[in-house]
Amino acid sequence: MISTDISKAADLLKAGEVIGLPTETVYGLAGNIFNETAIRKIFSVKQRPFYNPLIVHLAGIDRLDQVAKGIPGIAIKLAEKFWPGPLTLLLQKQTAVPDLVTAGKTTVAIRVPDHSMALALLKSIDFPLAAPSANPFGCISPTTAKHVDDYFGKEIPMVLDGGPCRNGVESTIIGFNDGEAILYRHGAIPMEEIEKITGKLKVYVKEENAPDAPGMLSKHYSPRTPTILTDNIQQVLKEHAGKKMALLLFNKKRNEYDPALQWVLSPGSRLEEAASNLYAMLHTLDELKVDLIICEKMKEEGLGITMNDRLVRASVESLI
Ligand code: TXA
Ligand code: MG
Repeated sequence: MISTDISKAADLLKAGEVIGLPTETVYGLAGNIFNETAIRKIFSVKQRPFYNPLIVHLAGIDRLDQVAKGIPGIAIKLAEKFWPGPLTLLLQKQTAVPDLVTAGKTTVAIRVPDHSMALALLKSIDFPLAAPSANPFGCISPTTAKHVDDYFGKEIPMVLDGGPCRNGVESTIIGFNDGEAILYRHGAIPMEEIEKITGKLKVYVKEENAPDAPGMLSKHYSPRTPTILTDNIQQVLKEHAGKKMALLLFNKKRNEYDPALQWVLSPGSRLEEAASNLYAMLHTLDELKVDLIICEKMKEEGLGITMNDRLVRASVESLI
């Protein structure tokens, strides 16, 4: 059921249920971090392996001590600058945070979402919410209540409808090593913005087969339709002539192909607008049942880096 009833959502969460939660990035699949049944349900509904830890959502920075300890000074600076907002910090966990939530890790991923409904809900309960993106493992993340309802409507009692997500891509994840900030996942805050506070960021590199941050698994965020990412659309169109193809483009349609099969992410050439439309358009293109989705590579700066990161994973079995 899709609903805007925040107090009903709170009651369901208090009863150990799992609900669809709107945030400014993507919708989450949320449950009480202290309720084992709820946390197990998140993993099973999402078909997510237990080695993949969940993000904990707080009502405000003042609740940070409930879940984290030994917080580096630089983390506090980042939290003060970007919370509420699409920044997730990996911090030493308090013993009270269940191992199931952190997949046995000693660190816990934490953020304060910048969404009025999510914040109102979090303030009305006395426990944090664990919430991974509300998509089946490996699939495109949801940016509307309907996306969540289409994925999980039969398995969860409610999707709280907070409208389309403003940012449209997941939070940026930052971890720390000896007080030094490390980028774990490109996200809605461009790394350049974070570097204004941290200085040049190291980018976390996953060891072969280490299931450390599966948002980093190669195949992820994927449409069911074969997808290609390219900076040479014309060439790819030629190579696949005869197939039914849909184009996902940055700022304008192309003359050499059927305009009815072309989608433009940002007519005004703004990366923020393009990012906010990215998943919704991928969902739409996937429903067309075409033979191939062809995505235009974004420029490698700011949110363009985040979008290319997601599109590479969406297209991983194709040649780029
Ligand atoms: O914007 C977002 O971050 C959304 C909304 C709902 O808040 N959530 C989200 O959650 O994207 P999820 O579970 O789809 O992605 C979280 C990523 C996963 O790749 C997970 O492996 C990683 O964060 N992660 C969580 N805890 C971690 C930890 N302690 N160390 C390393 N990676 C961690
Ligand atoms: Mg996810």
